[in-house]
Formats: sequence, C-alpha cells, structure tokens
Amino acid sequence: MVLSPSPSEAAAIAGDLVVQPSPASSAVLPLAHRPRRLRRTEGLRRMVRETVLTVADLIYPMFVMEGRGQRQEVPSMPGCYRYSLDLLLEEIREVVGLGIGAIALFPLIPDAQKDNAGTESYNPTGLIPQAVRAIKQAFPQLLVITDVALDPYSSMGHDGIVEDGEILNDETVAVLVKQALAHAEAGADMVAPSDMMDGRIGAIRQALDAEGWINVGILAYSAKYASAYYGPFRDALESAPKFGDKKTYQMDPANAAEALKEVDLDIAEGADIVMVKPALAYLDIIHRIKQYTNLPVAAYNVSGEYAMVKAAAAQGWIDEQTVMLETLTSIKRAGADVILTYFAKEVARVLSGER
Ligand code: PBG
Repeated sequence: MVLSPSPSEAAAIAGDLVVQPSPASSAVLPLAHRPRRLRRTEGLRRMVRETVLTVADLIYPMFVMEGRGQRQEVPSMPGCYRYSLDLLLEEIREVVGLGIGAIALFPLIPDAQKDNAGTESYNPTGLIPQAVRAIKQAFPQLLVITDVALDPYSSMGHDGIVEDGEILNDETVAVLVKQALAHAEAGADMVAPSDMMDGRIGAIRQALDAEGWINVGILAYSAKYASAYYGPFRDALESAPKFGDKKTYQMDPANAAEALKEVDLDIAEGADIVMVKPALAYLDIIHRIKQYTNLPVAAYNVSGEYAMVKAAAAQGWIDEQTVMLETLTSIKRAGADVILTYFAKEVARVLSGER
C-alpha cells in the first residue's frame, strides 16, 4: 500500500520548519537529546551555525612583475597570475568589485636585479613601491600589505644574506628595515615580514616610528614553518633556494610550544597581527595562538594547499567549491580572524551568490 504524505509530512519533506506530533509508535527511543533536530533543515542549520566565513576575513595574495601587458598564469597555481602593473590594476578593479578589502603583494624580480644582499628590495622606485603607489592612488580604500623578506630579490633564493653557507641574522634585519621603510614611504598600509629573522619586528617598528610611520601596521609571520607547501609560490616568484633549505630560520613542523615563543616575541616587539603559516597542517597552532593572545590572528592558506585542491578537482576527484569552503571555514573555526588565500576571488563570488 502506498501512502501519500500528510500535509505536515509534505511540509517537512519540503524543508519547512514544522512541529512534529509526538509519534505513538513503540519504536521511539526515550532520548533526552536528539542533536539531529537542529540539522533537519537549512534554516535550522543556518541559525545554529558557529562559524561563518565572510569576504571581510580575506586577504588576496597577488603577484606583480615588470613590463606592460603581461599576464602569466603560474602553472602550479591554476587561476593565479603574475601581472605587469597595468594589468594588475585592472585585476584589482575586479577584486575590489568583489568586495575584497585587502591584498598582499609579492614581486617577480628579474635575475639581473638579484644579488646576495637583496639590494633591490629597498629600491624606493623598485617594483613594489611603484605598484603600491599606483594601487593606493587608484584604490585608496583597498588595504595594501607588502611582504618584507629578501628571497624574491636574493640571488641565493634565501630570506637573508648568505655568508659561508649561513644566513646572517642581524645584517639581514638591517636590510629588512630599509625594505619596510621603502614600502611605508610608498603608501603600504601594513608590512608583513615573512623572513623569520630574530628581532626584525622590533627593528622595523622602531624604524617606522622614528620616520613618522606610526600608523603603518605590522602583520608578523610569527609562526612560519619550514614547509614543502610553499613549492608553487616559489615557482611563481622564481625564488626557490639555490642551495640547502630554510630550516635554520623557518620553524620545525614538529614544534608547537616554540610557536608561542615566537608569538610572544613578536607581540613584545610590536606586531599588530600575528600569523600562522601554512594553515591546514597547522590548525592546532592557529587554535593555540588564538587562545594565547588577544591580538588578531591571521593564517596563510598557502600555495601548496591551493594547488592540491585545484589538482584534485581538475581530476574530478573532489568538488572544488565545497572543499574550498570547508577548508577555509575550518581555518576560521580553528581561530583565524584573517585568512590569506588564493581562493579569495572564488570565495567572494560564492558568498555573493554569483556562483
Ligand atoms: C617569502 C615567502 C614565502 C611565502 C610567502 N612569503 C615562501 C618561502 O618562505 O619560501 C609562501 C607563500 C605560499 O606558499 O603561498 N618569504
């Protein structure tokens, strides 16, 4: 016998919120709590949702290169491009139109301009200062965050000056300070030291203040791990180390207590926001740091994390949009207030209902 649904059953099937009559059947267990009650309809799920990703959480990392009319896709980062400044400005128009409020800028520097001391990194008319000036002029409301580190400018592909196979700390900090000042001078809203030299946050804060840039913020890559997830980014900037690895300055992936030590130092030295990088393999670190400090916490959903999703989706093995949202929601749930992600445009489109 086929029973047609009663009006209340039909409404429940349609997803409406209806109060069910208590069933008389003896098969009903005497359960005080039925968590599934709150999962029954999208309306209920939405009402009790604990973590909501918004476009205001996002910072979009972008790659800039010399020249005109250049737009080169990064092979290991489908959907991400290196742009010459003219086309970057067009792209930023779209980014701003999507409601994204902040970008992080990274430069592709020609080999001829690279040296061991990263001299080009503090050229006041170099690629990044030029780009910052043009962007802030065209889009004054957009937050422009610049990366402070030597690797894109280093002939060695390291984040510091190399001597006898070692990365010099204090000599590198002196260069980073000049780089941060050049970015502030150009109009950067925040500088983001990603080099992991000791003492650089304090040195940069002091120098910025001494030069009158008291309102230029510091987004500190505090817990930055020596990670293989940066591979595609190094393709994008042609910045892979020419020898060795970055383990003498970036953190050991096995360490968590040390992340709190790094955060402590950066806060004491004047960081405005502390960052964990990468994000996905370090959700526990994000969580600990969020509980540890009342500063905003940022997380970098890095190039390798992006590339993995893109690659699996291209094979048809996962659903890209759902995995993207699940991943970013997990990073926020872990404690990130701010997320740097190459998915920013796609997220903005989904959240605005455009896709
Ligand atoms: C450079 C820097 C790196 C990233 C951001 N800034 C690479 C590195 O440390 O080797 C990686 C970002 C990404 O993988 O998306 N200091």
